[in-house]
Amino acid sequence: MSFFNYFCKNTIDMSKLISHLSYPIYIGDFFSDLDAFIFQMQPKVSKVYILVDENTHLHCIPTLIRNSSVLANSEILEIESGENQKNLDICFHLWQTLAENNADRNTLLINLGGGVISDMGGFIASTYKRGIRFINIPTSLLAQVDAAVGGKTGIDLGVLKNHIGCFSNPEAVFVNPIFLDTLSNQEITSGIGEILKYSLIDRYELWDEFKSYHFNEISKWENLIESSLEIKTKIVKLDPSEKGLRKILNFGHTYGHAFESLSLQEKPEAPLLHGEAVALGIICELWHSVKKNNFPIHVFNEIKEFIFQNFRTYPIEEKGIDTVIDLMKKDKKNTEQNISVILLNNIGDVQFDSFVSEQEVRECLLYFISQ
Ligand code: GLY
Repeated sequence: MSFFNYFCKNTIDMSKLISHLSYPIYIGDFFSDLDAFIFQMQPKVSKVYILVDENTHLHCIPTLIRNSSVLANSEILEIESGENQKNLDICFHLWQTLAENNADRNTLLINLGGGVISDMGGFIASTYKRGIRFINIPTSLLAQVDAAVGGKTGIDLGVLKNHIGCFSNPEAVFVNPIFLDTLSNQEITSGIGEILKYSLIDRYELWDEFKSYHFNEISKWENLIESSLEIKTKIVKLDPSEKGLRKILNFGHTYGHAFESLSLQEKPEAPLLHGEAVALGIICELWHSVKKNNFPIHVFNEIKEFIFQNFRTYPIEEKGIDTVIDLMKKDKKNTEQNISVILLNNIGDVQFDSFVSEQEVRECLLYFISQ
């Protein structure tokens, strides 16, 4: 039985374990498992802090506290929501709050939120007093299928996404679909952008399944959410620190990060969300795949049409091309002047360590804005 059905049909207070990693991932109605997990941690947890933003404070904390006796005396650390909070100033403030409250090395930090909370919370925990333990409870679809799993923690450096950070594993990850009910359509679409990535890097059957679902029926996506976590944990197990294979999880991200940064600069009030930007980045990296790796053009056209019909696009103007290229050149995955991208020979047949020139990127962006 898939975890979503499990969650929806099963009234017993239990969750399912699917981790291939050194730490467990509980999926489903996890509350009693969470209590037991924290209770059994050694050395004993001295104090629990829960990092939230205003949305997860309002919508998720009541459910969590109501269902968990261990968390009854926890302290809440709240930040504003949004990618622009993922910076050193906010870290400083949070480290200072922990220090003022005499948080010791047996403190546990619970990151309750989307990708910003798990990325930054993981970074704060990994660096405070050289590292305290943390648990991720992802509440956005994007964090549930991607950001909260795999040990990547960090913050942005100005507009440069995730430029500062470290690999550091949580003690455990607890995923409960109940939290998806609180998300906006745009946040669901953003999470689906990462599920699209998993479908295309893994196998044709997943892409077939992916395009058969409607974005507004997230309860039907149970298989794909579970498949995404399976794919991610298997890849991360083989290459935890991204020396090789794990790079394929960056498919669509070199362009995606640049689009996301551009939109943050140009439209800070309504920027592209991460997964929306990745979907647009996938079009561009597939365009290079057609040119350089003979990716089938009819499959490219089908995927491109699908993305343009279902995801928000971003109006890049010709004069913005240089800005996008500059942002891409600063991507941490590059070597010297080469721009690193992930290319596909076909769906499920991925080549990492591929590079494109500035001129090729320019041609691709001209194509993208002509669509
Ligand atoms: N989000 C890509 C990774 O975790 O490697």
